[in-house]
Amino acid sequence: MNRNPIIPFVLIMALGIGLVFFLSIEGLNNADEKAKEEKHGEMAGEEGEKPSSGEFDPEAKYKESCVSCHGGNYEGGAGPALKGTKLSKDEIKDRIKNGGGIMPAGLVADENLDAMADWIKSLK
Ligand code: HEC
Repeated sequence: MNRNPIIPFVLIMALGIGLVFFLSIEGLNNADEKAKEEKHGEMAGEEGEKPSSGEFDPEAKYKESCVSCHGGNYEGGAGPALKGTKLSKDEIKDRIKNGGGIMPAGLVADENLDAMADWIKSLK
């Protein structure tokens, strides 16, 4: 055996650098996911999370829970169009709270119903 004795050190160094690189990228991803999870909890305001009045984002909630049935532009799909709905705010709240047809009840936490209904009324 007549190998250059430096080679194992170089290999180990390369491995080390690769590992550091990998870990830092992993760390960034995790931080991202963590941030998303926290946001998600706030928006949903459920599962024993503290109530989130003031931080509720109806549009984000819509994208999360309603878009599949009411369409990317609120034009409707499996459910009716929400844009220009003729329902009153109270009727909207009632519909979101209680569901109807294939629409599931309880998608929006009670304390966020007002904000959600206002937002739907404001869709143009
Ligand atoms: C699984 C499909 C589905 C999902 C998810 C869904 N909806 Fe619906 N939605 C419907 C259907 C179907 C109706 C019509 C029900 C009926 O009147 O019989 C409806 C009706 C409504 C109405 C009454 C509209 C009108 O003019 O009659 C509102 C307001 C509404 N949905 C809001 C929401 C919101 C807000 C979300 C998300 C938090 C949501 N929906 C999620 C299917 C869905």
